[in-house]
Parts: sequence; C-alpha cells; structure tokens
Amino acid sequence: MKNPKKKTAKLWGGRFQQPTEKLVEDFTESVSYDRRLYSQDIRGSIAHARMLGQKGIIAQKDSQLIIEGLKKILRDIEAGDFSWKKDLEDVHMNIEKALTDLIGPAGGRLHTARSRNDQVATDFRLYVRDEIFKIDQLLERLQKAFISQAETHMGVIMPGFTHLQKAQPVLYSHHMLAYFEMFRRDRQRLKDCLKRVNVCPLGSAALAGTSYPIDREMTAKELEFEQVSENSMDAVSDRDFALEFLFCLSVIMMHLSRLSEELILWMSSEFSFVELPDAYCTGSSIMPQKKNPDVPELVRGKTGRVYGSLMALLTTLKGLPLTYNRDLQEDKEQLFDAADTTSSSLAVMAGLIENMRPDTKRMAQDTETGFLTATDLADYLVKKGLPFRQAHEVVGKAVADCIAEGKELHQLEFHQLEKLHPLIERDVLEIIDVEGSVASRRCKGGTGHKPVKDALNNAKRWLKEFKVYP
Ligand code: ARG
Repeated sequence: MKNPKKKTAKLWGGRFQQPTEKLVEDFTESVSYDRRLYSQDIRGSIAHARMLGQKGIIAQKDSQLIIEGLKKILRDIEAGDFSWKKDLEDVHMNIEKALTDLIGPAGGRLHTARSRNDQVATDFRLYVRDEIFKIDQLLERLQKAFISQAETHMGVIMPGFTHLQKAQPVLYSHHMLAYFEMFRRDRQRLKDCLKRVNVCPLGSAALAGTSYPIDREMTAKELEFEQVSENSMDAVSDRDFALEFLFCLSVIMMHLSRLSEELILWMSSEFSFVELPDAYCTGSSIMPQKKNPDVPELVRGKTGRVYGSLMALLTTLKGLPLTYNRDLQEDKEQLFDAADTTSSSLAVMAGLIENMRPDTKRMAQDTETGFLTATDLADYLVKKGLPFRQAHEVVGKAVADCIAEGKELHQLEFHQLEKLHPLIERDVLEIIDVEGSVASRRCKGGTGHKPVKDALNNAKRWLKEFKVYP
C-alpha cells in the first residue's frame, strides 16, 4: 500500500486512504469567505498560545515562536502577501499550516488543548463584537444627523399623519426626533445583545473540554471577554448570539426602510416636503426630467435580504442535535452579508439626512388644508363643559359643511363659527390656528415647543453618555 500521506496533505489526513474528491473539496471549503475572520483567528490563537506557554503546557520558547509567527502572518495577510488555499478548507487551517511552514514543528503545538469547534466559535464571537462596535458608531452618526435637522429647523410646522391622511399639525423637529428614538432603541438592543456575545467559548475544545491544565480566565481576559462559557457542549454549538445580532440588524433595517419610504413620499411632487441632495439621487436613462430617490429605494429593498439572513440561520439551527455540526458553517455568509448591508445602508442614510433640505414653506402651507385643528376645536368645546362625544359630533358636522363649501375651518368667519355651538366664543380663533394647536401640546413627549426642546436636550445628553461597551 502506498503511503496515504502522499495522497492527502490535509491537517486531518492521518486516517484517510483517498484524497478528497474535488467536488467535495469545493463543496465543504469555507476559506473563500471565512478568511474574513483572519484577524480574530490570529488574535484568539495568540491568546491561546500565550496561555499554553504560561501554564507550561507547551515550552515558553515554542509559545514565543508561535506568537511571533502569527504576528508575521497577520502582517503578510494585511499586506496582501498570503496565499489562501482551498484545499486547506478554512481560515483556521490555512493559518495553522502557514505557521508550521514558517516556524517548523513548534507550529504544530498551537492546536494543543483546542479544537476548531471552540476556535471558530471564539472567532465568530470576536467578529460579531467588532461589528457591534462599528454599527453602533454608524447609528450614532445617523442620530446626530436627526439632531441637527431638528435643531436647524426648530419651530417649523408640518402636517402629521395617521393612515397617511393628514391628522394634526406637528413640529418638523418632533418628526425628526421620532427617528432619533428608533435608533436609540437599536443601540440599546445591540448593547444588550453584546452581553451574550461577549462570552468566551475557548477551552471547550471539541465538545467536552480538555484534560490539559488550561487557564480559561486568562485567555478570556486577553480577548476582553466578560465571562467564560459554563458548558462546553453548549459553547461549541450555540449560535444564539448570531441570531440575536441578526435580529438587531433586521430591526435597524426595518427602521431604515420606514424612513426610506417616508423620504420617497416626501420627495414626490405630490408632497414636495424635502429636497434630497443631487449627490444622493440618480437620473433616468430615458426621461430627462427625472431625479429619483434610488438610495432610499435600495435601502428599503435591501431590508429583505437582512430579514432573509435571520430566517436562514434560524432554519439552519432548528434541527441540530448537540454539539457541533457542520451545518454551523452556514452561519457566516449570512451574517457577513447582513452586517455589510446594514453598515452600508446606515452610512448612506446618514449622509443623506445630513444633507437633506426640508421645504419648510411648503410644509407650512400644507398645514392649511385638511382640517388639522378639528380635534383642537372639539377639545375646546370639551373644556367648556361639553361631553367629548357631543363635541366630536358638532365638529364633524362643521367639517362636512366646510367640505360642501370648499372651505377650511380657519377660513370661517367668527359669526359662522359662533353658529356651530352656543359655547363658542371669540377665543376660538386661536384654537383653530395651527400655531396655537402645536403650542397647546405641552405634555411631555408632545409636539409643543417646550417638550420638543426638552426632548432635543435629553437626546443630546444621552448621546454624550451612551456607550455600547460596558
Ligand atoms: N469551517 C468550520 C465552520 O465554520 C470550522 C469548524 C470545523 N470543525 C469541524 N469539526 N469540522 O464551522
């Protein structure tokens, strides 16, 4: 029999008699995409090698050689000077093989007391943690853009909508700060998700832990994990943290998609509430007059693929017995794509909001139609003693009369208003005025000038204080 080692150079090739079928190699490899984990993989390996040396599990000088070798490999990869090999399957074995080629047999000691199962779980957690920091910063930038819109256009009144029908007048700043709140919750959600991401599985080995006297606290500390995992079997197979992260991304995209939808409406000639910067729009190849909101349209469209990633991973995980199964390799492409999509959507939206110009005149004009102060008139009657249901009826009739005459409430003369109900006096005139309506909504969280100013100040203070990292 020929030496099987000649047929297969796999790191796991010892017990194999035949080389891997080409088709199988292509089917099972992950290095074409998991090479993105190279820096996390090297970081984890350095921490592991240092611990092995300090605990006397491998010689200190081997530990040093390994660490220096890994640092050199990191530099090579970053310089584009590393050749990734598909037949070495994944990022972990590519780096381990390069290490042995570089430093000789000492490289073969790195994988002592470790398995790719706890290694990949560690790398992936480090990766998600880095992405959380990155996405949190983008969210912060977007929040600042909303603050700046709210601050610059303080006092501008626009129609507020329910059912996409004009409802009541609101401050443009109030509308902008509503988005601040959505993205605030998204940042809080990521912070909460981080608690469960930030747990170190290293030391769980293949599934059962290890017989070597390792120091798990030491590696966890070097890698800045908050705690070490409690159960080796769970630790190598758990991807809940990735699911939670994908859910956080899905909610961010849902918020961005709602914002996009609103911008698309606002930019249409029917609304004309905002002018999107030319730099963020595109034209039509056939209709010369067109300026299209492609950026928000694409953000809205890309939301689907992020939801898809969440669904895909949920489905991948649902049938898995303990512990590691190769199915888990499917976690990466979905998460990479979802994180990239969310990051680029956030970046482009932040730029758009920073440069968006509201047509404040047009918004104000638009508050003059649609009976925006009908509720205020009903409330006026209630405050004078009429039960709300009766007041609602009186105002409803008045609106119907106005519609018949092609008039708005505020266009009625006082003598006409007076006839609506005996409780109506001269002070009604400021009640049916949009400015008066906004000014009267003084309750906390309302659209009055004072509560909106307060909300703006609270938002700014929160931005200064919030840290995603504990
Ligand atoms: N590429 C693999 C993954 O992403 C690494 C872990 C492989 N472990 C194993 N026992 N085959 O899941």
